[in-house]
Order: sequence, then C-alpha cells, then structure tokens
Amino acid sequence: MKSAEIREAFLRFFEEQGHTRVASSSLIPGNDPTLLFTNAGMNQFKDCFLGQEKRAYTRAVSSQKCVRAGGKHNDLENVGYTARHHTFFEMLGNFSFGDYFKRDAITYAWNFLTSEKWLNLPKEKLWVTVYASDDEAYDIWTKDIGVPAERMVRIGDNKGAPYASDNFWTMGDTGPCGPCTEIFYDHGADIWGGPPGSPEEDGDRYIEIWNNVFMQFNRTADGVLHPLPAPSVDTGMGLERISAVLQHVHSNYEIDLFQSLLTASAKAIGCTNDAQASLKVVADHIRSCGFLVADGVLPSNEGRGYVLRRIIRRACRHGNKLGAKGSFFYQIVAALVAEMGEAFPELKSQQAHIERVLKAEEEQFAKTLEQGLKILEQDLAELKGDVVPGDVVFKLYDTYGFPMDLTGDIARERSLTIDEEGFEREMEAQRVRARSASSFGMDYNSLVKVDVATEFTGYTAHSGSAKIVALYKEGQSVDVLSEGEAGVVVLNQTPFYAESGGQIGDCGFLQAGAARFDVRDTTKTGGAFLHHGVLDSGSLIVGTPVQTHVDADVRHATSLNHSATHLLHAALRQVLGEHVQQKGSLVDSQRLRFDFSHFEAIKPEQLKALEDIVNAEIRKNSPVETEETDIETAKQKGAMALFGEKYGDSVRVLSMGDFSVELCGGIHANRTGDIGLLKITSEGGVASGVRRIEAVTGAAALAYLNAAEEQLKEAANLVKGSRDNLIDKLSAVLERNRLLEKQLEQLQAKAASAAGDDLSASALDVKGVKVLAVRLDGQDGKALLALVDQLKNKLGRAVILLGSVHEEKVVLVAGVTKDLTGQLKAGDLMKQAAAAVGGKGGGRPDMAQGGGIDAGALDAALALTVPFVEQGL
Ligand code: SER
Repeated sequence: MKSAEIREAFLRFFEEQGHTRVASSSLIPGNDPTLLFTNAGMNQFKDCFLGQEKRAYTRAVSSQKCVRAGGKHNDLENVGYTARHHTFFEMLGNFSFGDYFKRDAITYAWNFLTSEKWLNLPKEKLWVTVYASDDEAYDIWTKDIGVPAERMVRIGDNKGAPYASDNFWTMGDTGPCGPCTEIFYDHGADIWGGPPGSPEEDGDRYIEIWNNVFMQFNRTADGVLHPLPAPSVDTGMGLERISAVLQHVHSNYEIDLFQSLLTASAKAIGCTNDAQASLKVVADHIRSCGFLVADGVLPSNEGRGYVLRRIIRRACRHGNKLGAKGSFFYQIVAALVAEMGEAFPELKSQQAHIERVLKAEEEQFAKTLEQGLKILEQDLAELKGDVVPGDVVFKLYDTYGFPMDLTGDIARERSLTIDEEGFEREMEAQRVRARSASSFGMDYNSLVKVDVATEFTGYTAHSGSAKIVALYKEGQSVDVLSEGEAGVVVLNQTPFYAESGGQIGDCGFLQAGAARFDVRDTTKTGGAFLHHGVLDSGSLIVGTPVQTHVDADVRHATSLNHSATHLLHAALRQVLGEHVQQKGSLVDSQRLRFDFSHFEAIKPEQLKALEDIVNAEIRKNSPVETEETDIETAKQKGAMALFGEKYGDSVRVLSMGDFSVELCGGIHANRTGDIGLLKITSEGGVASGVRRIEAVTGAAALAYLNAAEEQLKEAANLVKGSRDNLIDKLSAVLERNRLLEKQLEQLQAKAASAAGDDLSASALDVKGVKVLAVRLDGQDGKALLALVDQLKNKLGRAVILLGSVHEEKVVLVAGVTKDLTGQLKAGDLMKQAAAAVGGKGGGRPDMAQGGGIDAGALDAALALTVPFVEQGL
C-alpha cells in the first residue's frame, strides 16, 4: 500500500465508526502560546479535551502535519541517524471528546491494524505496552483482544519522576495528559533491538507504531494533575512508520514517499543516492522546511524563525558534506510538491515562495559556512580532551551563523561533545552587554508589577472618570506624583488605547482639579494600562479620582490608518497572492506602515491596483463591524489571524463589508468611507522576503496630493506652461536641449580644427621629428583625441602630447605617427606623463590616453615630451 492509500484508509475506517474527518491544522499553533509547533494531532483539539470548547462532533479523525524540532518533543539531532525520527511527519489520529474510552479505542486500533479488510497485519508481530498501573487497559488487551501476556509489557515511571513515563503522555509542561498504551511492530530478528522496556529497546527492531492516550488530566504549571471534565481519547500513528511496515521495509526512508525525495536530494547535490545519513537529513529537512515556510514561518534569529533557520542550515551543512556546490536545497522543493502537494495544497500554491525563502537563506549561510568550517577544523585540531569549549561554539554562532546544534552535530560525528553550558554563559554575557548598551530607556514592563486589570472603555468613549490605582516614578511605586515629575499612572478604567497590534498608544491628558497630567503614550503590562507622561501642574495621589481625555484628533487619524491597513492587507492578498502574511505593522496618526512576506519588489502596476482596490472599498462605505466570539467561529468566518499571536478565549472579529475579516483589538473608523482616500507613498524591502509599504489616508493623503500638485505647478511655471501642457512643454525643452548639444559638438569640432591649425605652427623640430606638447584646458578626452588625429595628419613625422584640465581632472592624449612607432611608442610616453599627474594611462603605439588628479603637475608632464623623443631617437 502506498502512503497516500494508507492515509485514506485510516480516515475512511474511522469515518465508518462515526468520526468526523477534520483537516490538518497549521504547523503554527495560533491559539496556543505554550507550543512552538504543532507536534501532535491532538493540539488543535486541546480545548475540547479541557472542556473549554464544544464542537458539533464528539469523535474526530485527522491526518495532522507535525514538526518535532526545537520544542518539548525535539527529534532534530536524531534525524538521519535512526530509521524512524523526523523533523516533520504526518500523524494519523482518532479522537474522542468524552465519547468512547479505553475499550473502544483499543478495539478500533486492533481492528484497523489486523482485520483483513484494512491493514491485515500479522497479529503475532504486534507487541503492546501499558502504563504499569493501568490494569483496565491490560485486561482489555489480554482478555478481550487476546494478546498473549508474553507480548504485553507494563511500563512504569521510567523517566525519573512521577508520571514521567513512556506510557504517560503529556503535550507539554502543561495541558491535557494521561496514561497511554502503545502498539509496537516487530521488524524481525535480523534487525538489532529488543522489546520495549528491555535494555535494547532503542534498536530498530521493535518500533512503536501507534500510541493511544487515555486523556484524563490537565496538568497545570504547578505540576498538579486535575481530572478532565470527561475522559477522552487521543491517538497518534506516524504515517511514515506504518508505511514502512506495510511496504516491508525497515526504515522510514525506504518508503515510497521518501524514495523520490532522496533521489531528488542526490540530484540537487550532485552525489550518488546510496542513502547515506547526510542525504537522509536533507530529504527529511526539506519536508519540515517546506511545510514551515508554507505555513508562514520565515528564517530569523528568534522563536520559530530560528528553529527553521537551524533546520535549513543543518541541511546545507550536510549537503556541503556530500559535495554540494552552490545552492541546492531549494531545488528539492519541486519533488516535495510532486510527492505531497495533492494531500497538502498549500505546498503547491506556495511553491515559488518556499523556493525563494530557502534559496535566500542558503545563499546567506553559504557566505560564512566554508569559513566557519575552516575555523572549526583549526580549533578541533588544537583541541585537548573531547569537549568543544563554549567560547568556540559561541564564536561560530556569533560570527559565522552556526546554530549551536549544528556545531554539536559536527562534534558528534567525531565522537566529541560541546560545552552547552559554556555556550549559554557566553550568550548571557552578550545579552548583558546588549542590555547595558541600551539601558537609557526605562522598561516599565519588567519594572511595574500591578495586579489590577484596567477596564478599557475606549471603543466607545474618548473621556470619562476613573480612579488612580497606582503611580510610578523612575520605575518605583509611589503614592504621590508632584508637579514637573515624569511617571506612569495606572487607572481602574480608561478610554486610552494601549499600544498593541501595531497601533500606537493614545495620548491626551488626565485632570484632577488643578492637576494636569500630560499623557504622551499608553502601554499595557498584564491587565494594567500604563499612562506615560509628565505632570504639568498640581499633584496626583493614589486612590483619588481623575477625568480622562484622549486627544480625539490624533485618535481619529490613527483609526483611519488602522482601518486602511486592514483594507491594504486584504488587497495585497488579492493582488500578490495568498502567501502574503503580515510581518509587522505600525499605525499612528500620520501614516501607516505595513510589512509583509513577499519576495520581489512590487511592480508599479501592482501598486496602482492596490490603491485602486482599497479606494474602491473606501467608496463602498461599508460599515466597520466588530463581534466578540471564539477563535474557531472566527476562523470559520475566514478571519485572518496573525501567526504566533496569542489569542484568548474570546476574540474580536473586525469586518469591513465582505472584503476584510481580521482578528483585531484596535480602534477603527465607523465606516470605510471615513478613510476618505489612501495614497501609497513608498514601497521597499526591509529584510529577506519581507516588503514594506507606507501609505497615508484622510487629510494626510489629501495634503500629500496637494503637495504633489504644488510641485507640478512649480515645474509648469519653470517652463512657462500650465498643468495641462506641462508634458508637451517639457518634451519641447528636452528636444531643444538635444539640438543645442548637437550644435555645440559641431562647433567644438570646428574650433578644435581651427586650433589644430594654430597648434601645428608651434611644433618644435627635434632631430627631424615634429614635437608638440600643449595644454588645452576645458577640452574633454574626446575632443583631444580628434585633435591629435588631425595634428598627426598635418605634421607628418610627429610626436604629440595634449593635456587638459577638465572637470577638475587631468586628461591626456598622446599620438605618434606610424612611421615612428618602431622607435617611439605613444603608450610609453603616456605612462610617464600620466604618472607625473598622479594617474595612469596606456594604449596603442600610435595613440594612447590617460589621466590623473594632480592638475598642478600638468605642465611638468607635458615637458616630458621633448626628452622622451630625444632619448628614443
Ligand atoms: N498525542 C499522542 C502522541 O503524540 C497520541 O496522539 O503520541
């Protein structure tokens, strides 16, 4: 059975058992800040297990994209060296949310694996583990299913702490968890390895193929297990492993899906395909990298982007080991799309984007890879002991862009380890240096610790009454703020919008009797809104009331820019494609700035299309509507969510007609028509794969256009025309200019010829040779060349050197008539003369050109001509 057929069979089997087929979620767990990447099929159902979310179904089945690199479940360093670890894999899973439990879950799993109609695996090849104390599961397996006791293994807390066990599954440090039962397949005695729980269990003979988790608890950060509202089931079977079993191969890399990736990798690298470890690494990594980029991750120096960078660079290094020349990694994307694009259409639609991202990262790393490897070789040659010191690992990281695990990888190949702690110490020291270099700003987020949650009233109000709940001065909590002092005011409620989602914080003032606090910015930490500013008069005291006044004009202009940003975002996806994702945004009262993923400059006609689309939406004057709902409903409405952004239980969906739907907590126009007009003022690149558009709206857009109009008027005045005939007038001016230039050239040529006549008269006679060395300031090289030609004709046997100071530089042309070039060469004369004016020159024996910068030495250079001729004859 091919992998694709196995995937489909699994989904169909569980559909027949009343499960709803649910699509794979993104690799970026948008609504779960505890997870780096989606690492199991159950992630998207986390809230269903916790009882915090109800869906229309209680049974689900899926084939989920997973990445296990860089987070709690991290397989990166094993990849390539075992038969079964991957950075990316597909997990087949069936789920029950308070519906069936242990007995049905076990029965379904067994039936799917062993019944003739489905996978038809030989029962005697299957082994089963259960959590040591889970007698219920043990009995179901042995009594109901009939697995003999000798192929049953109980596994306790074998990882050094209560519930730390291969048979107790936890999603992360917190979240749903429970005991599990795992099904293993025995690949046969010719493969090394022992049954689960035995000392040889790490071998490749007994491979876990299916994990059935009985979700019973929610683990909180304090380590306590709280029972879930209803016992549930979460299972996971790696598609690659079960494919290996069914295709009678012993390594995942031998299955159909990997064969074409290995072939493509070998071709791109230019090596043979005998599935060496490095080739497997490359074939594995193209999957995680391809899928991560398709889901919106870009290589960077932090978070998810850094994990992606580490994987790409690891692939590059292994390709390099196999002799790859130039960029190879991106060339494998086509094979990935061919193999998996059917099941995951996002790969197809993003193919060009993925290729560009990978190529750019590869090219960037290629610049330092070779050099870094050389440095590492030197360090390793001098190494005493078998641990690579932290400062070496750090130097490679800092100067050559080698992620720590890449250096670790190289070390491991030589049976060395790296000093991770030493590396972390160096990193920390660098962080401290960076902090002290920028310690002039006060970071209130880390200093201010307030428990209050300020209530935000600003969606509907600009002003109101409030009570002061805390005051801060220089980062310290104080009871009173006095006149002239700068500080931070925290209120119980406020209409001031705190900076977030790209929209800047509101400004305005707070008033309490004679006291007036000028609010220059508003930020948020935890639930508290911080009003930053200066007390212009009076004093403020904790516990007393104040009146709040947001600067309504600034707020209004800002809100127009924010709404226009949403329209622009939607228009960008229409014009450039669905790969466009927000990478950053800044909205203030003057303009909007929007950064997004896209790989090339935007063409003028695309910019125009963007403006046209947004302005048409503005003219539609659709109402800007908001709705509070849960994230799933929001997604079903097609709301664009930012990847990596944390969204709470309740989200705010902001829509403008049927054109734009986004999750957003910002302040917006009432109707799109309020924006008036959008005008793009600039477009450019800010980082590899990220473009930036800046634009103005409303009154600022009008001012921008008015300024442009003023410039037009000025330009028209200059050519004594009007706006209407400016282009004709300008064309006429340019045409006239061209004619004048031509005439000037002709006149110059005439003048030069006349000068030539005069000049020939002043030639000296040196041993029967006419020698002429003259200075003609203001003439350019072209004019001098023409003149030398002419003089040669006139003078007969002659050596000529003409020099000029033109545009502050010295220009020299030398000529020797053909009959003399046997003895005297123009190039030789030029070499001497050009050197004298601090420059260079050369050319043919009969004609040479040169120049220099030392105008003061030009006469001396010309004076070299006579001696040159005398010596040469
Ligand atoms: N969540 C479990 C696992 O990842 C079963 O899906 O193994």
